[in-house]
Amino acid sequence: MDQIRIRGGKPLTGDIPIGGAKNAALPLMAASLLTDETLRLTNLPYLADILTMANLLTELGTDVKPDNGIHERGMGGTVDLTTKSISETTAPYDLVRKMRASVLVLGPTLAREGHARVSLPGGCAIGTRPVDLHLKALQQLGAEIELAEGYVDAHAKNGLKGGHVVFPMVTVGGTENILMAAALADGESVISNAAREPEIGDLARCLQAMGAKIEGVGTDTLTVQGVKKLHGAEHSVLPDRIETGTYAVAAAITGGELTLTGTSSNLIQSAIEVLTSAGVEVTETGRGLHISRANGALRGVDLMTEPYPGFPTDMQAQFMALMAVSGGASMITETIFENRFMHVPELCRMGADINVHGASAIVRGVEALSGAPVMATDLRASVSLVLAGLAAKGETMVNRVYHLDRGYERLEEKLNACGADIERVA
Ligand code: UD1
Repeated sequence: MDQIRIRGGKPLTGDIPIGGAKNAALPLMAASLLTDETLRLTNLPYLADILTMANLLTELGTDVKPDNGIHERGMGGTVDLTTKSISETTAPYDLVRKMRASVLVLGPTLAREGHARVSLPGGCAIGTRPVDLHLKALQQLGAEIELAEGYVDAHAKNGLKGGHVVFPMVTVGGTENILMAAALADGESVISNAAREPEIGDLARCLQAMGAKIEGVGTDTLTVQGVKKLHGAEHSVLPDRIETGTYAVAAAITGGELTLTGTSSNLIQSAIEVLTSAGVEVTETGRGLHISRANGALRGVDLMTEPYPGFPTDMQAQFMALMAVSGGASMITETIFENRFMHVPELCRMGADINVHGASAIVRGVEALSGAPVMATDLRASVSLVLAGLAAKGETMVNRVYHLDRGYERLEEKLNACGADIERVA
């Protein structure tokens, strides 16, 4: 299995292009199931997860045509998705277990076919992550749901009916599933306490381009007038705010200076506030987002993860790596997932001083980290170890690189181009 070797201590300078957002791309691809016409998606990131979703859609009957073929590490760029008919309504365990976001085919398949069977995703490294809220919401639209043999079996013999869905807690995937289902339901649906992540706005705008009637985009109340049929469209995936934030931390943690192109500060305001308080300069220039820690030390800052527009849980591990080498102490509280501190013991092996108490971690900044062999169990935890490795003295070997390929396109290339010493070794 591949590993990534980093020889740390080099300040990064230069430009890094930011790709399309993985978490927008996955629901957008699932949305292609809602129409028999072609949905053309552009600016898809080249990632393993995009290929996994393409494989799942192919299984269900979608004709997937990537402009640029399939690459060794994934699929991306411009992809045409055409589902003349859904020939298979079951999303099998083998594909769903690879990627939780596979559950996003449930809403659109049920809405179009009146039936969908999707394997339960099961637990994952960052917590139990059930889909009960997706299912309750679909029941509000008239779906009958049974759980049997590890599968969700959902029926709506006479089609879905508009209804009022009130989410008891904010769920990104749940909001996306129900938004897609409501687009083809009969009558009006209101989704209260909807997630407001930018990826939901992106999905809503694509659905609107396909003919869906949605109001309240960007707010926590979405109102959908169901239509009988949706049509084809072309949509460009919005920039990846988590990739943006990750490279912003790369500039800060190495004491470097990076310009992140093809992205926008609006997407990561909460992270920018933390960076600024920590002593990092962030400016929006004509060319992109400029991140600099050329002068000055880093200060520890407290942060707490929250649904958007709060600080994203998908940036928590990266900021913990940054706080590990900042002056003073920082308290990092995780409120979204119950088990999202798996990077802590690995960071400690690199010399970090971190204590976890329930949902909070106290990080006491150290002078420097030292390279070590490390391993992580999820995507963002893995990249936090890469960031720590970029700042550390000596050599860091990151194992289980496949996590990184799920969410970061051309990671080594992008970092190397800015002066990092990082390579993939077989
Ligand atoms: C999405 C993102 C993921 C991000 C997360 C939170 C994608 C593909 N993934 O995941 O990167 O970390 O949002 O921003 O977009 N919950 C339930 N029951 C449910 C659904 C969720 O209890 O039916 C809980 C979850 O266990 C978690 C919380 O709600 O504690 C938020 O989860 P959710 O927003 O649904 O995350 P995902 O959509 O899975």
